[in-house]
Amino acid sequence: MNWDETDDTSTEERLVGPAAERLVGSVADGEDQAVEAALRPKDLGEFIGQEKVREQLDLVLRAARARGATADHVLLSGAPGLGKTTLSMIIAAEMGAPIRITSGPAIQHAGDLAAILSSLQEGEVLFLDEIHRMSRPAEEMLYMAMEDFRVDVIVGKGPGATAIPLELPPFTLVGATTRAGLLPPPLRDRFGFTGHMEFYEPAELERVVHRSASLLDVEIEPDGAAEIAGRSRGTPRIANRLLRRVRDYAQVKADGFITREIAAAALAVYEVDARGLDRLDRAVLEALLKLFGGGPVGLSTLAVAVGEERETVEEVAEPFLVREGLLARTPRGRVGTPAAWAHLGLTPPRTSAGGNGQQDLFGA
Ligand SMILES: Nc1ncnc2c1ncn2[C@@H]1O[C@H](COP(=O)(O)OP(=O)(O)OP(=O)(O)O)[C@@H](O)[C@H]1O
Ligand SMILES: [Mg+2]
Repeated sequence: MNWDETDDTSTEERLVGPAAERLVGSVADGEDQAVEAALRPKDLGEFIGQEKVREQLDLVLRAARARGATADHVLLSGAPGLGKTTLSMIIAAEMGAPIRITSGPAIQHAGDLAAILSSLQEGEVLFLDEIHRMSRPAEEMLYMAMEDFRVDVIVGKGPGATAIPLELPPFTLVGATTRAGLLPPPLRDRFGFTGHMEFYEPAELERVVHRSASLLDVEIEPDGAAEIAGRSRGTPRIANRLLRRVRDYAQVKADGFITREIAAAALAVYEVDARGLDRLDRAVLEALLKLFGGGPVGLSTLAVAVGEERETVEEVAEPFLVREGLLARTPRGRVGTPAAWAHLGLTPPRTSAGGNGQQDLFGA
């Protein structure tokens, strides 16, 4: 059994094919993953940004510590790379408790979960990543475990099967999900605290870049950090990754010192543009604007045009493009906004202004 294997790869890193190569031009290698672990803040004081969640969590943990109790179950929701895994480790560290890391997809059967739960120590933190992808029977077992610290282990099959109740030590479940909306309400309601992680402000990402640079022993000018932060899509993981690529470039081309010019030149090499769009994002926008006059065009057609799977376009490229106000999802299909035309330096067809481009194209 390998349920306690650390599953710390991001959704992005798990994607295969061209999508996996986005952002950095190469698949994150072992060294990158080791560096990522080394860059994780170790306590709440080191954790940058997310003021709300940090303050709330700080209260929850302090109060539990003062009572000498195990902290309440915590649910963390937010986009990939915003710090959910990092926070779960911080929760364990702040509570002085060991942490066990597993993920929803790794728990295929209720028995897998029972094995994990029954081996927990008192006060241990169980981190369940991608909790929305757990199987149904495991989920139901988890309800009881969270509420009553008890599970029923089913022994045998068919009419002869019996349920043997098993007491569990108190533990803290930390669930992480990129899709809070997919969690069934009974599960959501059993968490004592839910922290919703927001995208980071550029100033916060600058602090992330400076902190990481000093840990990596890289010299960087404030302007250089700002340049990297501005292209990091509000996401610390991306900021760290771009920093490492810029460091490589600076090492080879400029004595390792990172200025704004070096950062900009390096990121141009890796095809990360001034707004943080990468090759795939730009390909999608270009197809939408150049081939389909700004849309509306169906997702499948758009995906074929850029040579990617539907899911890749929908789940990898679109969320950021929508968030940036460059692409809109309408009932009739995808539409490029005026900001998209401006960003790619293209002139929209005469009357096209987003929502009804196609109609305008044909002179309506
Ligand atoms: N608040 C922060 N301050 C500094 N660094 C951070 C912060 N949040 C995240 N990071 C850095 O970003 C990286 C990614 O964070 P983490 O793995 O916790 O994200 P995640 O939300 O678990 O992502 P996923 O949903 O893909 O699992 C970490 O290596 C960490 O160094
Ligand atoms: Mg994670």
